[in-house]
Amino acid sequence: MISLISSIVIVSCFVFIQAQVYVQPEQVHLSYGGDPSLMWVTWVTFDDISTAPVVEFGIGALSDTLKGNTTKFIDGGTQQRTIYVHRVLLNNLKAGQSYIYHVGSDKGWSSMFYFTALKGVDDNWSPRFAVFGDMGNKNARSLANIQQETQHGHFDAILHVGDMAYNMDTNNALIGDQFMRQIEPIAAYVPYMTVVGNHENAYNFSNYVNRFTMPGGGSNLMYSFDIGRAHFIVFSTEFYFFVEYGWQQIANQYQWLEEDLKKASANRERVPWIVTMGHRPMYCSNWDSDDCTKFESIIRGGLPYIHAYALEPLFYKYGVDLELWAHEHSYERMYPLYNRTVYNTTDDPYHNPPAPVHVVTGSAGCQENTDPFVPNPSPWSAFRSSDYGYSRMTVHNKTHLYFEQVSDDQKGAVIDSFWIHKEKHVPFMRLYEDEANQPPAGHYVPLDMPTPHWFKGKCKKCSQL
Ligand SMILES: [Fe+2]
Repeated sequence: MISLISSIVIVSCFVFIQAQVYVQPEQVHLSYGGDPSLMWVTWVTFDDISTAPVVEFGIGALSDTLKGNTTKFIDGGTQQRTIYVHRVLLNNLKAGQSYIYHVGSDKGWSSMFYFTALKGVDDNWSPRFAVFGDMGNKNARSLANIQQETQHGHFDAILHVGDMAYNMDTNNALIGDQFMRQIEPIAAYVPYMTVVGNHENAYNFSNYVNRFTMPGGGSNLMYSFDIGRAHFIVFSTEFYFFVEYGWQQIANQYQWLEEDLKKASANRERVPWIVTMGHRPMYCSNWDSDDCTKFESIIRGGLPYIHAYALEPLFYKYGVDLELWAHEHSYERMYPLYNRTVYNTTDDPYHNPPAPVHVVTGSAGCQENTDPFVPNPSPWSAFRSSDYGYSRMTVHNKTHLYFEQVSDDQKGAVIDSFWIHKEKHVPFMRLYEDEANQPPAGHYVPLDMPTPHWFKGKCKKCSQL
């Protein structure tokens, strides 16, 4: 009997020890809580810590403690790896104050990190963002500069417009772990806000959905938030392409987008800028076979033939100011345009533009390298570059927004910059209700459908369509 009890105790201890081998926190990252007083802190362990996850934090000392919750994520790969994702929502943060923090539990603690709480909408500040997409583990050319600039305090938040790790699910999601470690020198210091891309598609986007914590309490696929004088709307272009996960989510998202745009429109006196972020662009001039190249974009024009759930008219209707995209491994700035009509005839097309401005920024670096351009782009293409790089954006005030592109091939040189200057943020149609005030002349560009001879056999991304 004693022997049996001893055996049970030994086995129990063995199981307990086995279950708590990998309990050191890692992959620490921040995300905005949707209010300046709130910040999410998320990290992982590979075994269950069997207690509440904790963040100790404060101004100059670890004076406060908050507990959170843990979710168990099982990757869909053959090994069915388990990852424990810990989340704590920091509250009562003081706008503009710097905090130190570390995360963990009595099983183990992270390094010390720091962040500055964002200011409020009415604090008359000019939030600064790094904007990029398509950054993987291999060949992440912009990573060093973004790490350096973040830790020098040049950004208030990061906007990663989809496609990360390449891919998060690869090698039983070990690549996802590696990516999250790789961005920790950025994401542990400023909010790292994400958009889902096609490279996150495995197992119904489960690595993306489970590893991040975006505001709104949803699946991280569609959400919105205000920073400074800008309202950001994040959505999934991938619902239109990975329909094996359900058609209904296209309709659900469209409805959510319209409701969010209505609320944002009602708040434009206080938060005038509306910026959308989706992964696959409506317009581009790259040399591949994506939605925006030689095809009529589904994102732009809606589902084939019936044109349902088209996003271009929706965004135009509510006067979206700026649309940020990625997916193409390049940078491209467009003139204001709507319905294949480009408005570039005035001295400054970005001063009170009569249509949204689109930017594609997907050249932060990945193993697929950069994408070349077609030789003769459509007239809406204002500037384009296949250099590796990332964008910087400052929402200067209610009337001015600044955007620039950094080239990592040219040692951090700024290769493009522009201001959007708007006196009125209203639906575009309302700008021209007065017959005496009509929009500048636009130039309609018909779709050129035939496949050019030089294109044949050079498709790089056909398998993703
Ligand atoms: Fe992509």
